[in-house]
Amino acid sequence: MLVTALRLNDYRNYSKAFFEFNPHLNIIVGKNGSGKTNILESIIVVSNTKSYRTREDADLIKKGCEFARIDLVCDSKIYKVVINKKNKSLFIDNNLVKRTSEFIGKVNAVLFKPSDLELFTQSPGERRNLLDIEISKVSNKYINSLLKYNSLLKDKNKLLKELEVDELLLNVINESMAPLIKIIIEEREKFFDTINNYISAIYEQISGKKFDINITYKKCSEIYDVIDELEFAKEKDKYYHYSTFGPHHDDYRFTMNGYDLNSVASQGQRRMVLIAFKFALIKYIENNTGETPIVLLDDILSELDKDNQERLLNIIPSDMQVIITNTDINNLRINNNYKLIELKEGDNV
Ligand SMILES: Nc1ncnc2c1ncn2[C@@H]1O[C@H](COP(=O)(O)OP(=O)(O)OP(=O)(O)O)[C@@H](O)[C@H]1O
Ligand SMILES: [Mg+2]
Repeated sequence: MLVTALRLNDYRNYSKAFFEFNPHLNIIVGKNGSGKTNILESIIVVSNTKSYRTREDADLIKKGCEFARIDLVCDSKIYKVVINKKNKSLFIDNNLVKRTSEFIGKVNAVLFKPSDLELFTQSPGERRNLLDIEISKVSNKYINSLLKYNSLLKDKNKLLKELEVDELLLNVINESMAPLIKIIIEEREKFFDTINNYISAIYEQISGKKFDINITYKKCSEIYDVIDELEFAKEKDKYYHYSTFGPHHDDYRFTMNGYDLNSVASQGQRRMVLIAFKFALIKYIENNTGETPIVLLDDILSELDKDNQERLLNIIPSDMQVIITNTDINNLRINNNYKLIELKEGDNV
């Protein structure tokens, strides 16, 4: 996967901006607030069709403007996202793409950012969100099942709010849900199996230390039990007036040598586990799509000591495109060739 150019119009702090990237290492340098993260965010908006920094698409529009536009040239195709105050439109080579599922993940990028560390302490819902986004990008089956499941879940919760619950309708909803739940669990299991295959070895490569890193998938049910569990939960659902069983309650926990990561790992070790997790995620994407995602490192290198910085850069294969941001090029120990993109205050505003 190769991004060659990016054009931003009225996006965040940019009125008009144009950037070109080289196939391997790119370094964006600029002072705090100069718009480094905004560039990476815009690539993620094309990848995920939404930002990770805001729920409101309107926040992406430059203040005082009517709409924002991102044009990203990736593997000789032009991906365009046009954001209005109320909605957004997606285009590939100027053709309107009506279904989000046909756009999401076409440009595959993995972002590393300091706040990723929150993954370990976030709410299960936020952790699930990451899971859903990443699996959706490689599996149409997953995103379609998840969308249908979420819509049925809404119907079911509405039904359960009623004083007299229509039992027949509840059964119909449960029957439609069961195959979708099985697909969701199965795809999540595959995700964690792949991550667990790689994560410890990658951790050792980056940190130089051997630890058994593992993610435990806390699933709502075994696949073969789903129908029974749905049936079993009916009384509880009616009592609590919401759907108490299902993959919308799933979660996952990280362990280090068998212990909960939150209780044993130092801050630096957590950071490394997270980086190892993201590189394992890259393997998952490669295995499922045959494509190597673009790697975006936002302010990550400056958080590592020089040895770890060097080890991290060394595990990046030469055919992988990487975009790094930093406030000062002198903070980085980089031996490879790179393209420098310097943001000057006032350049793009
Ligand atoms: N909708 C918007 N309209 C105009 N400007 C915006 C909008 N959203 C954010 N900005 C501006 O974008 C700038 C922040 O950009 P960004 O987060 O990319 O900076 P950065 O270079 O990554 O900084 P740091 O080094 O602190 O991480 C701020 O100056 C902010 O005011
Ligand atoms: Mg930033």
